[in-house]
Formats: sequence, structure tokens, C-alpha cells
Amino acid sequence: MDEKKAVHSGTAVSSTAVPVHTDTTAKWFLLSAVVYFFIVGIVAIILAAKFIWPEMLGTVATLTYGRLRPLHVNGMLFGWLLAADMGLVYYLVPRLCGVKLWSEKLGVATAILWNFIILSAVVVLLGGWNQGLEYAELPLWLDVLVVVAWIMFGWNIFATVAKRKYVQMYVSVWYIMGTILWTAFVYLVGNFAVLFATGVNQANLNWMYVHNAVGLIFTPVGLALAYYFIPKSGNIPLYSHKLSMIGFWSLAFIYVWTGAHHMLHGPISQWLQTIAIFFSVMLLVPVWTVVYNFFATMKGQWELLQTRVELKFLMSGVVFYLLTCFQGPMHSLRSVNALVSKTDWIPGHAHMAVLGAFSFFAIAGTLYTVPRIFKTRLHSASMANWSFWFMMIGGLGFFVTLWLGGLWQGWQWNNPAIPFIDTVVALGPVWTVRFFSGVLIFLGIVLFLYDIVATAIGASGSEPIEDAA
Ligand code: HEM
Repeated sequence: MDEKKAVHSGTAVSSTAVPVHTDTTAKWFLLSAVVYFFIVGIVAIILAAKFIWPEMLGTVATLTYGRLRPLHVNGMLFGWLLAADMGLVYYLVPRLCGVKLWSEKLGVATAILWNFIILSAVVVLLGGWNQGLEYAELPLWLDVLVVVAWIMFGWNIFATVAKRKYVQMYVSVWYIMGTILWTAFVYLVGNFAVLFATGVNQANLNWMYVHNAVGLIFTPVGLALAYYFIPKSGNIPLYSHKLSMIGFWSLAFIYVWTGAHHMLHGPISQWLQTIAIFFSVMLLVPVWTVVYNFFATMKGQWELLQTRVELKFLMSGVVFYLLTCFQGPMHSLRSVNALVSKTDWIPGHAHMAVLGAFSFFAIAGTLYTVPRIFKTRLHSASMANWSFWFMMIGGLGFFVTLWLGGLWQGWQWNNPAIPFIDTVVALGPVWTVRFFSGVLIFLGIVLFLYDIVATAIGASGSEPIEDAA
């Protein structure tokens, strides 16, 4: 119980001690992220449609699959998800430290630079300028700008933490500091070091980047949000700070070794494959500590899910996180991997992580934060609820269909008697279900965008929600 109080102490200060936050940077990041979510959602629908009608828009070079896919992946990962995560970090770090953001001016400059990067990425990717490395498609000059923007972001956050009023740092702050350092390392390896390697070594470095983009960028910052917003949305203390620290340090030590599991049965040494498998299975440790902590926090409080839509997104995200991180270790095993690797199982798995878990955390954070930074109330809780159900039903249709389709595809590929083109034709119904599931998810995104923009525009009207640090 003492522990619970201690964990919550980072947020419990007297009203006279609460600094006045302007949150200009958070506003910039969050609003632009939500708009990119919508625009890149349109790209996603076109992409999914092309699986059913491959000739669609096929004669327009800029709109071919090869150009739209990297636009979708980079747009969703960096335009929507990471930008929303950064916006939320700008909101919660000053509150968890009991001080104002070190510099709003630097924050706004970072937001402008980030938007310039995303808009430039749209132009270069549609124009066909692509480095040809997965998730690292952007040309070198844009990579350099990403590094500059990340240094500006990191500087601002570390400087805020350095002048904090609370001695004990809440676990979200640990995860955010980890994200800033790990992203720097992962991004430099994946976008710069990789250019000095060739052949198998280059592929190995690229997979290290791809996997850790999820594991050491989106996972820690996503968990930082969940650790903050679950207790906040439910107004309940976190179950255990100690457990959260075990989760943090085990994630830090285990994740980085897993990238080579993307090359199992490939031309890399067996010992490297075995190490990747061992650490992939070990990932169950940080995942269980995190998930147990969240479930224990919610114990006796589950009825809150009926009234608090943020909690619906958050706890569904936790379940998707658990499922993703159970799937991951399992399909790292050589026998399972031989069946599912390179099939549609993988996008099914990837979307459950980045959409089902981490985007759900970011959506919940945005729904919680935007009314508070615009000093108003959410435009419509019922619209947010509808948006949840569209995304939930669409998401489940998307994930489950691709897993089943992937298993079927893998089974066919393992049978040399089946010609490859027959395996492509056979997947038609799977891709049709994925398209319609995608439309449902997109409807959810449209409602979410409308709700957030209406909240921001109608800012002055209603009685504000109290923003108690
Ligand atoms: C409207 C909903 C969405 C639809 C219809 C959709 C559709 C697609 C399609 C068709 C692909 C290509 C799969 C392939 O090449 O086999 C893809 C890949 C991808 N999408 Fe989405 N997507 C959606 C939402 C999202 C969201 C919200 C995110 C991230 C926040 C995301 C991240 C990714 C990533 C990372 C990949 C690459 C996966 C891999 O490398 O296996 N998508 N998506």
C-alpha cells in the first residue's frame, strides 16, 4: 500500500505548487498526428484495395503499390504514431516532474521540423526516391533531419527532467528516457551504419532496426503512456512500482538481441539464430510483469470500462500487447517460423502491435489530453465510443483473417506441388476481408479525427475538465 502511495506521489501536489502549462508543443504534435492518421488511413485503404483489384491506379507511377506501401508504413509509424507519442510525452513529462517544459519555443521548432520531415517524406516516397531498406526507406538527407529533430526533442525532455521537483521518478519517465536513448541508437544503426554493410550483414542490421523500431521505440514509449494513463483515467493507483522497474530493466536487456529471428532458416550462422530465439522467448518476462501490473491495477475496478472510453482503448491495448508478445516468442521457434515467416501472418502480427496495442494507447492518451490542453471537454464521448468499436471490430477482423490466411499460405508454400501463383489466387478472400476490416478501422479513424478537431475548435465553449497535474 505504501508502495502504491509512493507511485502516485509524482502526481499528487497541492494546487498552489502546480505550474501553469501552455502545452503549445503538445497541441502542435497531437493535432498534426491525428490529421496524418486520417490521410495515411486513406493510403492504407487504397493499398488494401490493390490486393483485390491489382490493376487499380496501376498506370500512375506515383500510385503504384511499391510507392504507396512505404508511404503507408512510414506515414503511420512516424507521421501518426511517433508524433502522437511525442505530443503526449510533451504533456506528461512536465506534469510528472512538477515543472514547466524546459522550452516551448524549442518544442514548437521541433514540431515544425517534424512536420517538414513528414511532408517531405510524402513527396520523396511518392516520387520513388527510396533507399530500399525496410522502415528505412527515407533518403539520407531526411534521416539527418530526423536525427536533428530527435536531438531537439531529447534535449527538451532531459532538461525538463533535470530541473524536476519530485525526486522519485515515476516509471513513465524512466521509459521515456529509455525511448530517447534507445531510439537514437536504433535509428543510427538502421539508417546510417547499415549503409556501410553489404549482403547478409546489411540484412542482419536492417532486421535489427526493424524489430527494435517496434521493441525499443514504440514499446517503451507506448508503455510509458499506458503506465500514466491507466491510473489517471481510472483515478486508481498503480499496483506496483517495483514490478514496473523489473519490466523496464528486463526490456532494456532482452529486446536488442532479438532482430535476427527475422532471418531464421536464412544465410546467417546457427548460433546467431539460436541467440535470437533464446532472447525472443525471454521477452515473456518483461511482458508478463507489465501486463500483470496493469491487470492488478484494474482489479475490482473493471466496471470503469463501461463509462471511460480511454480505459477501453487502454485495456484492449494491453490485451493486444499480451497477445502480440505471446505470438512473437512462439513464431521465433524454428518449427513455427518455418510455417509463418514471410506470410500474411506477419502483417497480422505487426498490425496487432502497432495498431491494436500502441495506437490504442496513443488514441487513449489523445482523448484524455486534448480536452485538458485546450481547457475544455471532449466534444463527444459517444463518438469516441463508436470510434473504439469500429477500430476494435475492424482490427479483430484484420488480425484474425491475416493469421489464418498466413497459416494457410505457409502450408501451401511448404508443398512444392502447389504452383506459387495458385497460392496468390487462393488468398483472394483473405484480402477481401482485410479490405472491409480496413474500411471499418478507417471509419473509426474518421470519428476520432472529428472528435478531436471538434474538441480543439470548440475549445472556449464548455466548462473545462480539471487538469490536476
Ligand atoms: C486503416 C487501417 C489499415 C489498413 C487497411 C492497413 C493496410 C496495410 C497493408 C495492405 C499493408 C501491406 C501488407 C503487405 O505488404 O503484405 C500494411 C503494412 C503495414 N502497416 Fe498497415 N494498415 C492499416 C493501419 C495501420 C496502422 C494504424 C499502422 C501503424 C500505426 C500500420 C502499420 C503498418 C506497418 C508497420 C506495415 C508493415 C508490416 C510488415 O512489415 O509486415 N498500419 N498495412
